[in-house]
Amino acid sequence: MNFEFLLYNVAEGIATITFNRPKALNALSPAVMEELDKAIALARDDDEVKVVILTGAGDKAYVAGADIKIMSEFTPLMAKKFSVRGQEVLFNLASLPKPVIACVNGFALGGGNEVAMACDFIYASDKARFGQPEINLGVIPGFGGTQRLARLVGKGLAKEICLTGGMISAQEAKEIGLVNKVFPHAELMAKTLETAKLMASKGVVALREIKQVIDEGLDTDLRNACLKEIDRFALCFTSEDQIEGMGAFLEKRSPSFKGKLA
Ligand code: CAA
Repeated sequence: MNFEFLLYNVAEGIATITFNRPKALNALSPAVMEELDKAIALARDDDEVKVVILTGAGDKAYVAGADIKIMSEFTPLMAKKFSVRGQEVLFNLASLPKPVIACVNGFALGGGNEVAMACDFIYASDKARFGQPEINLGVIPGFGGTQRLARLVGKGLAKEICLTGGMISAQEAKEIGLVNKVFPHAELMAKTLETAKLMASKGVVALREIKQVIDEGLDTDLRNACLKEIDRFALCFTSEDQIEGMGAFLEKRSPSFKGKLA
């Protein structure tokens, strides 16, 4: 599929989706969000894809937020539609049954930080900057930023970031738990691919079950969350991957996962 605002590439079991509007610092227009949704569906439906990476084109930005030029013409109804659709797309991203790494190569502001937070975890360049600057425009985050940020870093820090509209460095973002790892800018993609390849070598059933049970469990109390784990643990025993994984251990060889249910 050809995209106007994204690059989509699959190699070695990894789909890389690149926001590709570098002149506008990869800002998110409604059209970009529609293409993102299509790319998410492509990655979801392609059995060759085991892991997804989301990054930004150019040296400066991952995504510098929703497109301010377009939003400046919005009526309240258009703003609502944009927010509803943006949130829907980011829920589709968050619930993709494959691991997704945000490879943040520069500014991740507003909608950009919101896209990154809808991924499973964030790797960042030491040049990356994070923030929710919507308050500087007289509005609030609209793609789930107030909620995902508070869940990731806690209420006080989320409020400070959203209420001040300031930016934080990649290192600060790591210290507060927004970012998993920070790498020298030139090494970011190689390091991200290294982790993506490691995950792609695992069984797809267990990859999916771990992702989903952590996400669903965090939305419920501990006892019910652990009940979900019981079901998903048992479900793994219907997969060829379990037979292969345990068999390989006992035969003292490396497993070769095919990702099928037995
Ligand atoms: N929307 C549209 N265009 C944008 C943009 C955005 N969010 N961010 C940057 N651009 C454009 C600029 O207008 C500029 O275009 P021109 O060359 O045509 O003038 C180009 O990208 C380069 O940007 P700058 O010249 O501003 O670059 P800089 O290095 O001086 O500053 C920056 C970089 C600090 C990221 C600055 O561009 C900036 O503050 N951008 C806006 C960030 C922002 O407020 N994001 C939140 C948007 S609201 C939102 O996202 C709502 C939501 O939750 C859904």
